[in-house]
Amino acid sequence: MPSLALDAVQRAAAPLRALAAEARVEALDEVSSTNDRCSALAAEGAPEGTLVVAARQTKGRGRLGRSWASPDGGLYLSILLRPDEAMLRRLPVTLLAGLAVAEAADRFLAGVKADLKWPNDVHVKGKKLAGVLGEMTKDARGPLLVLGLGVNVGGAASDLPAEVRELATTLAAHGATATREEVLGAVLERFCDHYKAVRRGGGVTILSSASARMPLLGKPVRVRLADRVIDGVAAGLSATGGLVVEERGPDGFVRRDTVLAGEVEEVRPS
Ligand code: BTN
Repeated sequence: MPSLALDAVQRAAAPLRALAAEARVEALDEVSSTNDRCSALAAEGAPEGTLVVAARQTKGRGRLGRSWASPDGGLYLSILLRPDEAMLRRLPVTLLAGLAVAEAADRFLAGVKADLKWPNDVHVKGKKLAGVLGEMTKDARGPLLVLGLGVNVGGAASDLPAEVRELATTLAAHGATATREEVLGAVLERFCDHYKAVRRGGGVTILSSASARMPLLGKPVRVRLADRVIDGVAAGLSATGGLVVEERGPDGFVRRDTVLAGEVEEVRPS
């Protein structure tokens, strides 16, 4: 797989420069993890909007301490962001990123729509196309978010490592011929639009767009939290992007929980 085309990556990054004028781009053939590289750049004082994109990763990381298979053909990127506290209270930036990837994927998929699996996985026909890893810290200037996105663009699912092959898919497997740079441009365009809307105080249409892509809503689910498991019905998204789960207790009363982080799976009748 050839290196990323630098001129095409620079063009794709234009929406980031509209978000943060100082935005810089680093495009690499190989890196351990774009999130790690982006964090290192942040520690050196890199400006908001800095983008790190790589053709492959040797130690790609996923949520919940998992690894992220990152062979040639995929798109691996991280963005350095400095959302303020008010913005962070509004909606999770990771939800905006998941929605952006799903919307971007739709541009390249014919006759099939990308879904969101709460909180921010992107699926096509029940298989994972993309994932989002947000790593939040604080420095002297305030909150600092390294937002990492991995999208399976080229190749077939059978090219992916055995441990994810059955569960994953790629854009190419659905007939899409888009390059990694085209997908990057579409993702950044959609993401920056959402980010700017939330920064201005908006977000209501983002919540409805995200909900409309969540087939899990209205279905019986099991949510695994760090300290307990909730069995209930996924009733919707809260105003701040949490998953509202309705659980019927032994007394017949329905209890509503809003889950902000966790693993959710549909429970199918056996
Ligand atoms: C997940 O679904 O578990 C999240 C996967 C996030 C993977 C991306 S690839 C680019 C960035 N760098 C990493 O090491 N991880 C994220």
